[in-house]
Amino acid sequence: MTKLTEMVQWQDLNNNANEVKNASLRELFKDKRRAEKLTIKNEKLKLYFDYSKNIITDETMQLLIKLARSCDINGYAKKMFMGEKINWTENRPVLHTALRNRSNSPVYVDGNDVMPEINNVLSKMKDFTDKLRSGEWTGVTGEKITDVVNIGIGGSDLGPKMVCEALKFYADGPSVHFVSNVDGADIDETMKRLNPGATLFIVASKTFTTQETLTNANTAKDWIVDKLGIESVKKHFIALSTNKSAVEEFGIDSENMFEFWDFVGGRYSLWSAIGISISCSIGFDKFEELLSGAHEMDKHFLNEPYETNIPVIMALLGIWNNNFLGCETHAIFPYSYYLSKLPAYLQQADMESNGKSVNRDGEMVDYQTAPIIWGEPGTNGQHSFYQLVHQGAKIIPADFIGLVNPPKKVGNHHEKLMANFFAQTEALAFGLNKDEIVDTGEKLIPYKTFSGNRPTNSILLDELTPYTLGVLIAAYEHKIFTQGIIWGLDSFDQWGVQLGKTLASKILPELTGEEMGEHDCSTSALINRFNAS
Ligand code: F6P
Repeated sequence: MTKLTEMVQWQDLNNNANEVKNASLRELFKDKRRAEKLTIKNEKLKLYFDYSKNIITDETMQLLIKLARSCDINGYAKKMFMGEKINWTENRPVLHTALRNRSNSPVYVDGNDVMPEINNVLSKMKDFTDKLRSGEWTGVTGEKITDVVNIGIGGSDLGPKMVCEALKFYADGPSVHFVSNVDGADIDETMKRLNPGATLFIVASKTFTTQETLTNANTAKDWIVDKLGIESVKKHFIALSTNKSAVEEFGIDSENMFEFWDFVGGRYSLWSAIGISISCSIGFDKFEELLSGAHEMDKHFLNEPYETNIPVIMALLGIWNNNFLGCETHAIFPYSYYLSKLPAYLQQADMESNGKSVNRDGEMVDYQTAPIIWGEPGTNGQHSFYQLVHQGAKIIPADFIGLVNPPKKVGNHHEKLMANFFAQTEALAFGLNKDEIVDTGEKLIPYKTFSGNRPTNSILLDELTPYTLGVLIAAYEHKIFTQGIIWGLDSFDQWGVQLGKTLASKILPELTGEEMGEHDCSTSALINRFNAS
């Protein structure tokens, strides 16, 4: 395989970056057609994607598209959708796309169609959700379930939590809570507000071996058993997992286990049984609309030419800013209260997928990979860290995400919110020159100028529905996939989380009075300080 940095397409981009990096967006926008040329409007996806406020020229875009072609993004995408084992370090296919394959066309893994199994679990989810929401499924005391607690971490928490928050406007089922942290405060603060007789715990863990989740699940089980007796476990616990024997060993009836499979990565699992908390909250029909939105984006990603392919363009712009303009972070700024958890969700999706530095040939790469993803909802950020985004010494590319129509109109709040969105992207792009500053003494002029030329993407959803949310999440998933292919990474393993887990399990007995292990002097001193109290 030719090294990425030695490819002619990469070198052409390097040369282009040397010419373009000092270009001014004010100059580039003298082309009055720029916004029209660099915007993708897709009515079916109900999405408008304007990337004109990036430091790019027509030539940059042509070179980026050539890079995508030479890396065969579409060829790899087809392999993923068809169930080839593209997660090569774990020898697994990557089939979150099959979970939302609304066409129901067969998808084969080792010669077996996985769609019937997927459909079975979906219909089991529907059945359970309908019973829970209608009150047919009760707790052991006969009470209707009013509160559902999802116990999980990482992909078994962030996805469903983000979606439940994003679709809160549609919530008409039991209240949904999320417990993830092994800090006892998380479960304690949650349980103290709940009535055990009306509470259902969902233990969500792909492996069913994760320390945090099992610790929290055992604490919840002790609480339920203490209040309602051992027989109550089967009415108050369900499990979402790939590991049937561990679920049974925990004491959850296999009838109450909702299965998924190794071909679904944790951070891509909200479309699977891991999404049952979503379905409890908004109903199974709306959960299916979420799947439909993602499926529509899957078709777009597979079939649309690169030039108008939203995830491919998002990925290429990210590579441009990261690898050629030297930006180290990428911010996500939702201008929607409902999307407040999107940045945290995308941190795992992106950084756990592409936060790697060894390529397909097992070699260390000599270029940057995943950026640091961070962000907060829009106007709140404006009153804290946007100072740095506008005038700091670092350039921070950002995705601004907003809604044309809010789920509910409240006075003129939405106009005010979106005026801020549009103003911020305008200010970041075009800045303020010293001769445009009025009413200021000479001395303050340098402090009050804005350099501009700070790249942003503007993403407008027509509205926030399960469908458009599915579209948006899948767009980011495929952006991450595309970047992983270009960087030559396995985006679907996560070996980087192992070492810390191993060391924590070695240290745990040292904190509970057993013998001290060998450590560096800093770690030993910290453990001694903890043990001395
Ligand atoms: O430790 C990282 C990780 O494996 C994530 O990839 C995953 O989403 C999370 O832990 C939770 O894993 P599980 O669902 O197996 O409990």
